[in-house]
Amino acid sequence: QTEEPLRVMISGAPASGKGTQCQLITKKYDLVHVAAGDLLRAEIETGSENGKRAKEYMEKGQLVPDEIVVMMVKDRLLKPDSVENGWLLDGYPRSLSQAIALKELGFEPDIFILLEVSEDILVERVVGRRLDPVTGKIYHLKYSPPETKEIADRLTQRFDDTEEKVKLRLNTHHQNVEAVLSMFKDITIKINGNASQEDVFTQIDASLTTLLEQRKSSSESM
Ligand code: AP5
Repeated sequence: QTEEPLRVMISGAPASGKGTQCQLITKKYDLVHVAAGDLLRAEIETGSENGKRAKEYMEKGQLVPDEIVVMMVKDRLLKPDSVENGWLLDGYPRSLSQAIALKELGFEPDIFILLEVSEDILVERVVGRRLDPVTGKIYHLKYSPPETKEIADRLTQRFDDTEEKVKLRLNTHHQNVEAVLSMFKDITIKINGNASQEDVFTQIDASLTTLLEQRKSSSESM
C-alpha cells in the first residue's frame, strides 16, 4: 500500500524563517518546496509582462494580484514531482481569496505551520539576509554567516530587503494574516520562531513526525 504524500503549508511574517526552515524540511522529508516569492522572482528574471507587473507590487511590499500568483502556484503544485513526493508550500496563501482559490482547486494541506517571531527580530533578520546565487542557500551576516570568503564575495541581497520595505511588507502581512489563519485553524501548529534555526526545526520536525505516526496508526487500524 502506497502512502499519500505529505502536503504542508508554512506561514509567517516576512523574514520569520520560512525559507530557512523549508531548506531543512525538504532535506529530511523530501517534499517539493514551492515558494510563491521564488516563483515570482523567477518570473521577473524572464522579463515577461507578468514579471514586470509583479515587481511593481513587490517593490511596494504589496501582494501581487491573484491572477498572476494563483495560476503560478497551481501549475507548480500540479507538476509530477509535487504530486508524487508531496509539497511544502511557502508564502501562499497570503489572503483569504488565495486560500479559497486553492481549496476550490482541490488542494488541501495536512498541516499548517505558523512561525511566530517578534517584530524587532524580523527587521534585523531582513536587513542582514544574504543569498548565494550559486546554491540558493540563505545566509545572515550575523546569525548564519557564509562558510568561506569565496561564498561571502558572491552573496546578493534582495531588492525588497531594506528596513523601509520590510515595514511595508509587515503592514500587508498584518492586514491579511487573520483571515488566512481562520481558514486553517483546525490543522495549525504554532511554532516559536524566535529560537535558533536548529531549535525551530526541532519543533517542526516533532510535529511532522507526530503527523506521520498518527497517519500510520490510523491506516493500520483500518
Ligand atoms: P517572499 O519572498 O515570500 O518574502 P517574505 O514572506 O517576506 O518572506 P521572506 O522570504 O522575506 O522570509 P522567510 O520567512 O523566508 O525568512 P528566511 O528564511 O529567508 O515574498 C516577497 C514578495 O513577493 C511579497 O512582499 C509580495 O509582494 C510577493 N508575494 C509573495 N508571495 C505572494 C502571494 N502568495 N501573493 C501575492 N504576492 C506574493 O530568513 C530571513 C533571514 O533570517 C535570513 O537571513 C536567515 O538566515 C535568518 N534566519 C532565519 N531563521 C533564523 C533563526 N531562527 N535565527 C536567526 N536567524 C534566522
